[in-house]
Amino acid sequence: TNSNIIFYLLAYLVGSIPFGLILAKTFANVDIKSQGSNSIGATNVLRVVKQTNPSLAKKLGIATVILDAIKGLVIIALAMFLNAPTETLWAIAVLAVLGHCYSVYLGLEGGKGVATGLGVFLILIPIPTLIGAIVWIICAKVIKVSSLSSLFGLTAVVIGAILFNNGLEVGSNAPVYIIAFIIYYKHIPNIIRLIKKEEQKVI
Ligand code: G3P
Repeated sequence: TNSNIIFYLLAYLVGSIPFGLILAKTFANVDIKSQGSNSIGATNVLRVVKQTNPSLAKKLGIATVILDAIKGLVIIALAMFLNAPTETLWAIAVLAVLGHCYSVYLGLEGGKGVATGLGVFLILIPIPTLIGAIVWIICAKVIKVSSLSSLFGLTAVVIGAILFNNGLEVGSNAPVYIIAFIIYYKHIPNIIRLIKKEEQKVI
C-alpha cells in the first residue's frame, strides 16, 4: 500500500544518515571516511578520534551507537504504532540497515550495519538480540577486537532467532538472514584482516 512505500522511503533515507561521520566532523573536526577503516560506524569514530582526544572519542562512539541503533528502531516503532503488519516491519528493518551500509548521502558507501542491526533486531526479536549483545560484550572484553565481537554477536542473534523461531510470525527467519548477510558481507575486509592477523584492537 501507499503508506508502506512512505515507510520504506523513510527507512532508507533515515537509515542513510551517517551519524558517526557527522559527530566526528562536528565535534572533533575529523573525516572518518578517509581514516582508519573508512567506515562511518562507532568503532571507527572511536578509533580515529582517539588519536587526538581519547575521552571525547568514547563519548562520540557511544553517541554514534545509540543514534545509529535508534534510526531504524524509531521507524519500526512508528509503523508498529500504526498497526503495520510484521512483514512491513521487517522490510523497514532491512531498508534501514541497507541505508546505513549503502547511504544515499555518501554515494552508496557507509557503515557495516552492526548498530543499526542491533536497533532493528532489538525491537523485533528482543530475546535473541539480548543474547547477541551479551555475546558481543563478553567478546569485546576478552578479545578486544570490535569486528570479531560483532561477527560473534551477530551469529548469536541468528542462532537465537532459529532456536526461538520468532523472526516472522509466519515462521520464516528470512529477513533475519538477509540483514545478517548484509552485515557479514560488509565485514569481508575485516575478515581478511582477521585471517592475516592484521585487525587492530580498538576497545
Ligand atoms: O561495527 C563495525 C565493526 O564491526 C567494525 O568496524 O571500523 O573496525 O571496520 P571497523
